[in-house]
Formats: sequence, structure tokens, C-alpha cells
Amino acid sequence: MNISLNANIPDEVRAVASDGTKLRYALMELSAQYPDAIALGRGDPDLATPAHITQAVMQSIRDGKTAPTPVAGMPTLREAIGEKFRRENGLDVVGDNIIVTAGGQEGLFLLMQALLDPGDEVLVPDPRYTSYDEAIASAGGKFVLIPTDHEDAFNLRPEAVEAAITPRTKALLIVTPSNPTGGIVTEDRLRAIAEIAIRHNLIVISDEIYEKFLYDGWQHFSIGSLPGMAERTVTLNGFSKTYAMTGFRVGFIAAPANLIAAMAKVKAATTGATATISQWAGLAALTGAQEPLHEFQRIYTERRALMLTGLRDLGLNFSDPRGAFFFWTNSSSIGIHATVLSYLLLKEGHVLLFPGTGFGENWGGYLRISILQTTDLLQEALGRMKPILDRYRAQAK
Ligand SMILES: Cc1ncc(COP(=O)(O)O)c(C=O)c1O
Repeated sequence: MNISLNANIPDEVRAVASDGTKLRYALMELSAQYPDAIALGRGDPDLATPAHITQAVMQSIRDGKTAPTPVAGMPTLREAIGEKFRRENGLDVVGDNIIVTAGGQEGLFLLMQALLDPGDEVLVPDPRYTSYDEAIASAGGKFVLIPTDHEDAFNLRPEAVEAAITPRTKALLIVTPSNPTGGIVTEDRLRAIAEIAIRHNLIVISDEIYEKFLYDGWQHFSIGSLPGMAERTVTLNGFSKTYAMTGFRVGFIAAPANLIAAMAKVKAATTGATATISQWAGLAALTGAQEPLHEFQRIYTERRALMLTGLRDLGLNFSDPRGAFFFWTNSSSIGIHATVLSYLLLKEGHVLLFPGTGFGENWGGYLRISILQTTDLLQEALGRMKPILDRYRAQAK
């Protein structure tokens, strides 16, 4: 993909174009200028947190149950998370293997601080959620990219993993389903990757935050459940996506107990225990009715179906997302760098979506389009995008 970043974007976007996270934030700020903007950039659910969860929080406040908990989390919540991992993911864990974090985001930073020595390398699939880059760099580590591609539905190739291993490789990070690609790492690949991790004595960090959102019959599989993996797997998850609880800032990690203890030390020295009321929310989410989650799954499935047709009608090319909330679309037929194209769609159509470069510098020919709006707004966004894309595509010819 060789589309250059021409002069057609404002300085505040150009200045951050090479930093995925800053670029995403700059575009969100620009979109705030347009009251009718339709945000297809965001990754946090637009749906309301289920009522029984918010009611549990209010009850905990009324009962005065707001004192800080132990740093690694409320014991009943750690137990409930352990139970969830055993039952749903086949992990062999107890409460001591769990830490409750202020979102998966904090979990990533705590983990890298606890795990890495300066110069250690972490293998990360490309494209990626660039917070990984920052978490790794914050601990003096180095991320090494593992290419994934469209033809392979962005599945991770064991041979690509093996080829990137050096004497400094400490860990391999996988994310399934993936932000931004919507791809998954299939069970056969996970089995082969687990063998590689064991052979090279690597830690595997498995980000499973989108595990509940799978389509077309695809099933989630946790690499930590495979023989020989319990002692080397860190499974990261959280409540933000599953229960539409992003603002509660509560996530969790399962890992060997010594690593959990090391993370708790960093957490004690930085943020302390996760907010107690958010932990009550998490407990209610795990132990309460799951019907709201099933309703979320139905809603996302419907939106994905609408976007499959709608984006194809726009002439965009993509591999059908198998999970998560995103379409990772190849926009190179438009002939404009994705960073510029995102800016133009925002300026001319008031549609916010993220350029591929928000997820790695190699992705100037891709857009990440999320499904986190009502079907009416998704339709409206498609309608606004069509004439703009048609016009630029015609100009490129
Ligand atoms: C792949 C992935 N992991 C982790 C997170 C962290 O989410 P949170 O901090 O809300 O739990 C996100 C959020 O967008 C994500 O996309």
C-alpha cells in the first residue's frame, strides 16, 4: 500500500499522524465541532448498562458498603471471576490468580510493569490496539510486530510468531476477537502457538475482552486452558464491553499467583484498589441475570448484518468480522491515504471513523468502522459516506 499522506489535513491531525492513540483522540476532538456527527470511531458500547447492575451500585451506596477493598480486589469478586474463568474458559484458577483492575487498560500497564525488564521484547500482532505499544514502552520493553493479513482473515500465523522470536522475547500478546480487525485466532492456531510458547518459554498474554461478541457461529477459545499453559498465560478481560460498563472502569486479569502479587504491588503504589462501587457493579454483572448480555449480542448481530451489506454497497473491501464491534475495511480503492480520508469524511459528511493508521503505521489503506450506533444512525452514516467516497474514487481514476 503506497498512498502518500498529502497536504490535505489540518496541522493538529498531521502532527500526530504517526501516533495511533493521539491520532484517534485528535479526530474525536475535531468531531466535537459537529453536533450532528455520527461516531463510528468509538470502541466503547453505546448501549446502557443493565439496570440490575446500576441498582446494585446504588444499593451498595445506600448500605454504606464503600470502604476500600484489598488492592487485588474484593474477595467475593475475585472468587466470582475465578468461577467465571473455570466455567466459561476452562482455566485452572482460584481467587489468588485474579486481580481486579481499573479497566483492562490499567491491567495492561500493571502487567507490563510487573513482567518486563528493560529491553525485553513482546510480540504483538499488527494491526493492533496501540495502547499495547504504550504499556510495553512504559516498562522499557520493546514491541515487535507480527504481521497478519486480509487473505487470512487476520488470524495469527504460528510460523510468523516463531519467525519473530529472539533471545530477548519475553512474551507474546494475542487478542481474540481483535480490535481493530474483528478477526479471531482460531483454536487450531492457538494450539500451535501454545506449543511454540512452551518450546521457547514465553509468557502468553491473551486479551479476551471481546470474547462474548462472535458471529457466524465462531466460538471463543482460551489459550490458557491448554495443557502446560496455566503457568505461562495471562488472561485479560473486563466488564467494559461485555456489560456496557466502560465508565465504571473495572477489568480483571487471571495469571500465575506470583505475577498477580507483583501487579498488586505496582497497583498499591499507584492507583490502589479499584473503586469499590465499580467492584459491586462487576459482582452484580457476573452473578446476576445474563439476559441483557444476550440482548446486546442480538443487537450487535443485527447491526453487523446491516453493515455487511451497507459497506459492500459502498465498494469497500473487507474480510467479514468474526467478532468484536469493528469492520476493518480496505479503502485503498479510493486512492487517498486513510488518515486524510477519515478527515474528509468527518469534515464533509460529519462521520467519524478511525483511519487504519490509528492502529499501526502500516495501515494507511484501511479504515476501522465500528457498529456502536443504532441501526438508523448506521444507515444515515452509510448514506452520508456514499457520495463522498464515490466522488474521491472518481477523482482518483
Ligand atoms: C483490545 C482491547 N483491550 C483492552 C481494552 C481496554 O478496555 P477497558 O480499559 O475499558 O477495560 C480495549 C478498549 O478499547 C480494547 O479494545
